[in-house]
Amino acid sequence: MKRIALLGATGSIGRQALEIINASGELELCALAAGTTDLSRLAAERGVKHFQSGGDLVPLLEASQPDLVLNAVVGFAGCGATIWALEQGVTLALANKESLVAAGELALAAKERGGGLLLPVDSEHSAIFQCLERGTAEQVASIVLTASGGPFRGHSRAELERVTPEQALAHPTWQMGPKITIDSATLANKGLEVIEAHFLFGLPYERIEVIVHPSSIVHSLVRFRDGAALAHLGYPDMRVPISFALSYPERAATPLEPLDLASGLTLEFQALDEETFPLVSLARQAGQAGGSAPCVYSAANEVAVAAFLAGQLPFLSIIEVVERTLERADASPVSDLESLVEADTAARRIATGQLGKTSSLS
Ligand SMILES: NC(=O)c1ccc[n+]([C@@H]2O[C@H](COP(=O)([O-])OP(=O)(O)OC[C@H]3O[C@@H](n4cnc5c(N)ncnc54)[C@H](OP(=O)(O)O)[C@@H]3O)[C@@H](O)[C@H]2O)c1
Repeated sequence: MKRIALLGATGSIGRQALEIINASGELELCALAAGTTDLSRLAAERGVKHFQSGGDLVPLLEASQPDLVLNAVVGFAGCGATIWALEQGVTLALANKESLVAAGELALAAKERGGGLLLPVDSEHSAIFQCLERGTAEQVASIVLTASGGPFRGHSRAELERVTPEQALAHPTWQMGPKITIDSATLANKGLEVIEAHFLFGLPYERIEVIVHPSSIVHSLVRFRDGAALAHLGYPDMRVPISFALSYPERAATPLEPLDLASGLTLEFQALDEETFPLVSLARQAGQAGGSAPCVYSAANEVAVAAFLAGQLPFLSIIEVVERTLERADASPVSDLESLVEADTAARRIATGQLGKTSSLS
């Protein structure tokens, strides 16, 4: 039996993970965590002794001694758990991309010391991880992250001015939590994924491409030096990458529908409109600056998304808040978790100060 600590158990990823754990005879829950939701009923139903809502996740992980941590917390709050699992050499199935973006350099150093596995749960990164399983680093020319383009693909900047949270929450292909759904609409999600891919696969930013693929059937591709490109295909369903990570390396069976190739599937790709959606290039710049800059990008985005969802910030101002916070925050080296938390706090303060000052305010 593999003992699983499920962090973010009440969220979109968390609920789908529970479904997979329930159906498996090989996986056993040993810990549950959420942000504010009371987990006592869920824990009692599943016979889980270790659970908590909010607070430091490390004591929970230490007490429950998991074989695998599925980090499906949203935002920077997942950082401590990511570092703990990597440092301890406990397999980390990572959905919480913000922690690897913010703490990338610390996380890689912790992984090196701990010697454990880091398995991506993000569908694009899971796809790339699988395409890379039979290749060596020097054979890879580049990786290509696919992006659905979100609900506003093809819109002009002017059309995005009056977008409401309700419109932005209506994602065309994926059912996800509110923060990542807004990130998909602004393309900040793809920006975070570019940085995540840099840390996961050790490629420089110029070898990480982004392409718009509206139907989300091709989850990502790897281009090799001989001209071949390997792709990972399937319906957009997060239970596939979650199951892959939880059962790795066994690739457990799932009851999910196989791809119906004769159903008239067409695979369409388009270049990303970087002018209308500049958060991908801003992420590349933050990634290239290194140090605390990716943490600043992610923190400013979290603040701006929360304000947009609360009806306090226009949609386009999310971009402006991230851009201005990156300009104003010091991109300092990150030596430990404490200095990362300081960088995150400072970036949130700057971003909050920008909320009332953006030019797109209506
Ligand atoms: N959803 C997807 O399809 C998808 C795909 C790829 C990657 N991801 C990534 O996976 C992560 C989770 O996304 P999601 O869509 O599942 O989000 P979600 O539905 O909003 O769920 C977030 C989860 O995090 C918990 N949480 C919040 N703050 C916490 C804290 N301080 N300590 C412990 N738990 C906390 C929430 O608990 P409460 O319910 O109590 O607030 C909830 O269980 C994000 O990083 C996202 O980018 C998601």
